[in-house]
Amino acid sequence: MITLGIESSCDETACAVLRNENELLSNIVATSLDKHKEFGGIVPEIASRETLKCIDAVYRKALEAAKIEQEEIDLIALTKGPGLIGSLLVGLSFGKALSYGLNIPFIGVSHLEAHLSGAFIDKKRPEAPFIGLVISGGHTSLVHSRDGRYVPIGATVDDAVGEAFDKVAKILGLGFPGGPIIDDLAKRGNPDAIKFTKPKLKNDFDFSYSGIKTAVLYYKKDLADWESRVNDICASFQKAAISWLVEKTMLACEKKKVGCVVVGGGVSANSLFREEIKKETKKRDYDLFLPELKFTNDNAAMIAKLGYEEFRRGRGSELNLGAVATMPLGE
Ligand code: KG4
Ligand code: ZN
Repeated sequence: MITLGIESSCDETACAVLRNENELLSNIVATSLDKHKEFGGIVPEIASRETLKCIDAVYRKALEAAKIEQEEIDLIALTKGPGLIGSLLVGLSFGKALSYGLNIPFIGVSHLEAHLSGAFIDKKRPEAPFIGLVISGGHTSLVHSRDGRYVPIGATVDDAVGEAFDKVAKILGLGFPGGPIIDDLAKRGNPDAIKFTKPKLKNDFDFSYSGIKTAVLYYKKDLADWESRVNDICASFQKAAISWLVEKTMLACEKKKVGCVVVGGGVSANSLFREEIKKETKKRDYDLFLPELKFTNDNAAMIAKLGYEEFRRGRGSELNLGAVATMPLGE
């Protein structure tokens, strides 16, 4: 069975071809990121216009790379949300039109759930219950996966962790997106130079990242020679931000008596995060599913994978399916 995945929730326009459960035949991603950089963030109108311009070419490239004809596609899986409504609508309309034209089924899936599927694109989904952590520019969520569903157990109460990386980079004048830049500069800084206080929250599994961003802002204001301390600020910020993610995930495993962790989203590319989550899960003898670097950012392989899985469980979508800008991870 051949599944075509389509992803268009933000600045990426992506198509991927998956054969059966885990044979990825192609994975094409185009991004309009360069067109947003001068604005210091993603401009929704530019993103949707760029998606509209390139989606047909990305689709054709994905078929070509997979060495298949479009008549061989059996199922279309696309992102129904959450994300930028304009970009989502382009992918959704494109997928619906293909489904109608080729007379094949389509299925709309959650971008957040798909990020977790990104950790086992070319593997089998873990059968045992797991703790899922989605860390991206828009989301920071912990779920307990059991009995084939995702039960939410915690999320950020304000900024997402990726958003904090982006905002801190902006405060320090480093450029956009901030995650990879901070990751790089942190390697040359002292992670113990500044101590950031861990926010106290009612729910142990919730996160908060707006306080640490403000702390960086004040630290910079109070320090005349802050520019010479940028590497230390990056290293200290990163150490705190990442340690909260890892600590809460380990706590969730302990409290829910689960020995398996699945991670997804752009921030899972962070080198310190990858090192720490590997170390802490190994120490406890837990299984870890961490996406390969090429699957940490938005891509359509993860959409195809989740769409295939849901289709096999009997799900499908109707042509009146709409795009959804906000939706939580889990029920
Ligand atoms: O999953 P993603 O590509 O898009 C969303 O669905 O949001 O995640 C993008 C986010 C951005 O905030 C970016 O700064 C962050 O992931 N990111 C990183 C790294 N690479 C990307 N954050 C920390 N360290 C990185 N190496
Ligand atoms: Zn994403």
